[in-house]
Amino acid sequence: MNLFARKNIDELQADAAHEGAHTLKRSLGPLNLVSLGVGAIIGTGIFVLTGTAAAQHAGPALILSFVLAGVGCLFAGLCYAEFASMIPIAGSAYTYGYATLGELFAWIIGWDLILEYLFGAATVAAGWSAYVTSFLRDIGIELPLWLTNAPGTLVQLKSGAWVRATEALQLSLQQEGISMASLPHAEGGFNLVAALAILVVTLLLILGTKESARFNNVAVAIKLAVVFAFIGVGGYYVLTHMTQAVDNWTPFIPAEIAPGQFGWSGIVAASGVIFFAYIGFDAVSTTAQEAKNPQKDMPIGILGSLVICTILYILVTGIMTGIVNYPELNVAEPIAVAIEATGYSALASLIKVGAIAGLSSVMLVMLMAQPRIFFTMSRDGLLPPVFSKLHPTFRTPHVSTAMTGVVCALLAGLYDVSTLGHLVSIGTLLAFVIVCAGVWYLRVKEPNRPRPFRTPLVPLVPILGILVCVYMMSGLPKEAWERLVIWLAIGLAIYFFYGRHHSVLQRTGHAVIGDGPGPDAPHTPGDTLDERITPPVN
Ligand code: ALA
Repeated sequence: MNLFARKNIDELQADAAHEGAHTLKRSLGPLNLVSLGVGAIIGTGIFVLTGTAAAQHAGPALILSFVLAGVGCLFAGLCYAEFASMIPIAGSAYTYGYATLGELFAWIIGWDLILEYLFGAATVAAGWSAYVTSFLRDIGIELPLWLTNAPGTLVQLKSGAWVRATEALQLSLQQEGISMASLPHAEGGFNLVAALAILVVTLLLILGTKESARFNNVAVAIKLAVVFAFIGVGGYYVLTHMTQAVDNWTPFIPAEIAPGQFGWSGIVAASGVIFFAYIGFDAVSTTAQEAKNPQKDMPIGILGSLVICTILYILVTGIMTGIVNYPELNVAEPIAVAIEATGYSALASLIKVGAIAGLSSVMLVMLMAQPRIFFTMSRDGLLPPVFSKLHPTFRTPHVSTAMTGVVCALLAGLYDVSTLGHLVSIGTLLAFVIVCAGVWYLRVKEPNRPRPFRTPLVPLVPILGILVCVYMMSGLPKEAWERLVIWLAIGLAIYFFYGRHHSVLQRTGHAVIGDGPGPDAPHTPGDTLDERITPPVN
């Protein structure tokens, strides 16, 4: 039994190059890939987490956190680009791991990707619920707070808005001479709105992916319109109220009140939190089999979408912290709160609708990607066959989609956006670390293998990628680390008790290539998953 058995890269490449009646149509050009990436990236990170990250960790210096996270992602993105152009297979990081570091690492990445996608969708749903609740309140519908917040979340009514009760808020209230206890407060019970959102998206995915993809395209367009509207209107407000903005930006780096709360340690902590905002560029690599020219266009799609989002995020953060004093951003809908503060209240409601549409698209992409990864892992024998079962009529992986949806809905109902977001960030950062290590390892092990895109300055860039990602992980709370360790321990137990004994590669010495049928399932035309589901398309 070889824990480090590797899939054969030549076989994977041959499969990726194969074109026929049952392979995906190569229709995506560089522009499609960039817009797909931007569509997958922009979501809860910018619409929701920026508020708490500024209020609790970094203040106006959140801009620096976005730069730090952006740089880390760029290094990781360069490594993804090398792999995506060399092994243009939908399995993304999981397949790269299998082809380079071997089965055990592939399993760890696959297991880790559950944190990115399944837990990621739950995080987005929690943010979605905040925007929906806020929008409904605008039109006079007040949902009970215990049904729109996770258990244990304490919220206070301050200046007409419900904000999360935190130490930073307490400090800012003290400065205003208000006692926190004197404000109305409430506690969450189960975030039913978030759970229902997940269940609806799951149902949509089970019934058909064509419809889902169409819905998604519209949602992405609305989401981008909202971001540009915020930059336009908010930017104009900042330019015309420079004194107020400068006041709000001062001090740019608030003094540290505890480790991870303001000061440099706060900037690092915030970068781990808002790293979530960058997640999704790796989704571009899952569409490698549909790119017209993956060797050339994958790097453009991955790096182009990353650079565009980094610029948009820095602009949004600068404008937001210029309009509103950062302690007041401790809300789940900071962009809308900022626009409300400019006096353009009508736009605030529009922004909420846009964010709701935008967040729906991210949930959809993540809930579509997760069963796809389960499918690949199940085809490889590392997960039970039920994960690669397809619905006879809808031709979707209905069982794994439903299981993913139910677990995700429970998580979305029970945990708040920060707890979930931290776990997603730490898990995805770990996957990035392994991908960076994989690029370096393969350069040493197979230096002469043709690489259509070469990560520059290897091993410097992968090493810097690893260092920056680990640095960001170090800023995340102790609980996130504990949960990650528990998660990985559960994963390793499953691998040693199940995966290792059922692995197709271990049993046959050959990989199941792409998403074709495994040795236990005779192939019939139309049998591959790609013929049934569109990959994460925005
Ligand atoms: N980057 C995605 C978001 O922020 C996951 O929602």
